[in-house]
Amino acid sequence: MGYLSERAIADLRYKATEKFTKLPIPKLDTMHSGDNLSKLTNDIQLVKRFLDWDGYFLILRPLMAVATLAYLTYLNWQLTLASLVFIPIMMYLTMKITQPISNYSKALQEELANINKANQDILGGIQIVKSFNLKDRILESFKGQVDESVKRGRVIALRRAILAGISGFLTFLPFIVSFGLGSLLVNRGSMSVGGLLAFINLLNQLSWPLAQLPNHIGSYKAAGAGLDRIYEIVDIVSERQTGEKLDFESENVLSFNNVRFAYGEKDILQGISFHINCGEKVALVGPSGGGKSTIFKLITGFYQPYEGEISLFNNTIDKWKLDFLREEIAVVSQDTYLFPTTIKENITLGRNFSMEAIIAASQKANAHNFIMELADGYDTMVGERGAKLSGGQRQRISIARAILKDAKLLLLDEATSALDTESEQMVQQALEKAMEGRTTMVIAHRLSTIKNADRILVIEGGAVVEEGTHEQLLDKEGLYSKLYNKDFSHVDQESGVA
Ligand SMILES: Nc1ncnc2c1ncn2[C@@H]1O[C@H](COP(=O)(O)OP(=O)(O)OP(=O)(O)O)[C@@H](O)[C@H]1O
Ligand SMILES: [Mg+2]
Repeated sequence: MGYLSERAIADLRYKATEKFTKLPIPKLDTMHSGDNLSKLTNDIQLVKRFLDWDGYFLILRPLMAVATLAYLTYLNWQLTLASLVFIPIMMYLTMKITQPISNYSKALQEELANINKANQDILGGIQIVKSFNLKDRILESFKGQVDESVKRGRVIALRRAILAGISGFLTFLPFIVSFGLGSLLVNRGSMSVGGLLAFINLLNQLSWPLAQLPNHIGSYKAAGAGLDRIYEIVDIVSERQTGEKLDFESENVLSFNNVRFAYGEKDILQGISFHINCGEKVALVGPSGGGKSTIFKLITGFYQPYEGEISLFNNTIDKWKLDFLREEIAVVSQDTYLFPTTIKENITLGRNFSMEAIIAASQKANAHNFIMELADGYDTMVGERGAKLSGGQRQRISIARAILKDAKLLLLDEATSALDTESEQMVQQALEKAMEGRTTMVIAHRLSTIKNADRILVIEGGAVVEEGTHEQLLDKEGLYSKLYNKDFSHVDQESGVA
């Protein structure tokens, strides 16, 4: 039984975790990792507790009770009837009391998930909590949540205490009745003392399992609530798994044709059209919030446009099998995520590459030298989210990652956060190396990147408002020249720092 329950729980855990990898990004946007984690731990634990213990007895004990009942009836049906007359009433009460337990349990589990969310937010933002001195305010609201969970837990505890009382009655009442009535029958001579003792002994085999049933039922209801919450994830429709493994060889690498997109009500992309040929380097520039990163999220198929068409390698994106397509798109995003493992694994992401290839990619990404200066070189652990590295180092690791992937299309979202001049130059050189000989779309915040581009698209308010080379756009004296004069003209062009 233990083995089966371990297996079932492992399967459930795997199924739920696997589901996360398949969830559509828009759905994930609406979820909180603290709640998700709670489902994978607290709720699974509830189900496990039931399977390990109560589930087994919930099946076994009624069987035992029925078998015993048959034998008791055979021994003395009148006495059996009299002893057990209360049981249906008790069972009815049990059902009534346990009925709301699943709802209460669900509410409690949700409150536990809220606590998990708050924990995660506090831990995730611990530096902000400290530097902005938010400790007291955060702890106060956290205490409120803990108190709420205690309140909800108490409601369940009360029900369970009443159930324990019923269990007690179920255990003793039949004995008192059968002892009293049985003594009368013995007095009248219609039952032997031995027969009565045997009857009472057997009754134990009936009342004990019945008395335990309310508890098992309570646990069943709680597990059901946990399972409901886990299935809230499992039941979500996965990201599209269909599509074909099409050919990547094409002159026409990427095109947007009148693409409209909104995260919610408000249009973010308002009919964007552009085209990128094989080998071209195209820079996207424009004011913050204009929709530049959003364009990347559409190219990788994380979100779908509601109007217009996106084509990759000459086929519309809906024809592609997304996993297959993503193999040939390398993304360096604005904020890099590093896994809490070694530098080497963060660059290879678990794939097999020779050490030479890893070093070559790191050299191009300007990362090799600093990696070699670390205590364990490529085997240095980077800490959670790469906390033990500087911002510029993290970026260079993620550029090395993209170079090693050697994809047909490179999407670079330049970090906007300011780096010091030296680090900035390092990252800049790394980006240039990464772009060499590769079709690249780069969201540029720095002059040197922009100047290296074959073409510049100026994005404002979700539309391409200007297009051309640096010189052409300056001549136009439109938004680009305004942005250039405001952000870049004062910049030391050698360092390229905006
Ligand atoms: N997941 C999301 N859900 C809802 N709105 C979003 C989401 N991501 C971005 N937005 C909104 O979409 C708009 C465009 O965001 P986007 O990240 O594409 O801007 P951006 O041009 O990359 O800006 P920046 O230069 O600051 O990086 C913004 O107004 C932003 O608030
Ligand atoms: Mg952005």
